[in-house]
Amino acid sequence: AAIMKGSFDHFMQKEIYEQPESVVNTMRGRVNFDTHAITLGGLKAYLSVIRRCRRMVFVACGTSYHSCLATRSIFEELTEIPVSIELASDFLDRKTPIFRDDVCIFVSQSGETADTILAMRYCLERGALNVGVVNVVGSTISRESHCGIHVNAGPEIGVASTKAYTSQYIALIMMAIQLSEDRISFTARRNAIIDGLHDLPGQIRQILQHDKEFQALAQTTLSKERSLLIMGRGYQHATCLEAALKIKELTYMHSEGILAGELKHGPLALIDESMPVILIMTQDSLYAKTRSALEQVTARKGAPIIIANDTDKSLDAEQHRVIRVPKTIDCLQGLLNIIPLQLLSYHMAVEKGFDVDFPRNLAKSVTVE
Ligand code: G6P
Repeated sequence: AAIMKGSFDHFMQKEIYEQPESVVNTMRGRVNFDTHAITLGGLKAYLSVIRRCRRMVFVACGTSYHSCLATRSIFEELTEIPVSIELASDFLDRKTPIFRDDVCIFVSQSGETADTILAMRYCLERGALNVGVVNVVGSTISRESHCGIHVNAGPEIGVASTKAYTSQYIALIMMAIQLSEDRISFTARRNAIIDGLHDLPGQIRQILQHDKEFQALAQTTLSKERSLLIMGRGYQHATCLEAALKIKELTYMHSEGILAGELKHGPLALIDESMPVILIMTQDSLYAKTRSALEQVTARKGAPIIIANDTDKSLDAEQHRVIRVPKTIDCLQGLLNIIPLQLLSYHMAVEKGFDVDFPRNLAKSVTVE
């Protein structure tokens, strides 16, 4: 059946708005919120092999790469297995050493990205266990991997990925939890994340209700800029890179995701009163450090738009433009923080009159090297 936009102007807009449901579809039949148990059928037979591996190597392109980056730290924390994250093209260029006791995880919405497929075949030849995390059932990566997880976000038409990103992110979180379920010492941590997953759909809905404010910000301010820097650290570094990618793809504007911890090593030179900055400053263990980034930027007369938790009262007295998002557990906060940024990039592109669903020079799936 043809996929219709319904009451939406663009597929991308529809896909952003579908996220309260698509994240549920990703968790359906897999997360038991009462017993705090996760069951990923497609990994079951391989769990003990994965737990014994010497490292996990994630390989992907574009937005899918960002979902790996967004969840790296929770894999490291819950499994204590070394994790590396690779862009498929660079992984191939370097002829990266891969061994029989490696587990390689290929994340791809389409399952047809040429570089990711080639990287997968390269790892197969070297005897690694290949895991596919794929949205399109029956795609090359889902067929050629040893085992895997279907992302179940439903078909994504917009070239700029939105709901596939949030669902990949959740699929990877579920995988990290499942891998660590034999570790009693992490039980409380796992349970807290599963409780966080339970509340996500409602929290995404809450953010979508503020869309008019994001639209106004895009129309009145951001779409008139020539450049936009997006800063954050820790879990939010991936959010910054993903937001900057959305803005580039859709608005053809220069945008850069910046790790706030690197500010002093260069990016600070870009800051003056006219450089547009978005700073992601939600409340996790790095909050104090991110606050110091805010001070560094304002000391150079920068006036960032801040993405903050609605529980953060410390900003009330200060003169900042603030986008409020609900608070969740650290490793899930990026799932909420990306939503306003998806909407901002969408509205900026609409305001500029660009083709939101099919940006120039880009393809939904890049099937050539
Ligand atoms: C293209 C698309 C991106 C996507 C990337 C990876 O560049 O335009 O939206 O993130 O490919 O695609 P995949 O299907 O492997 O996730």
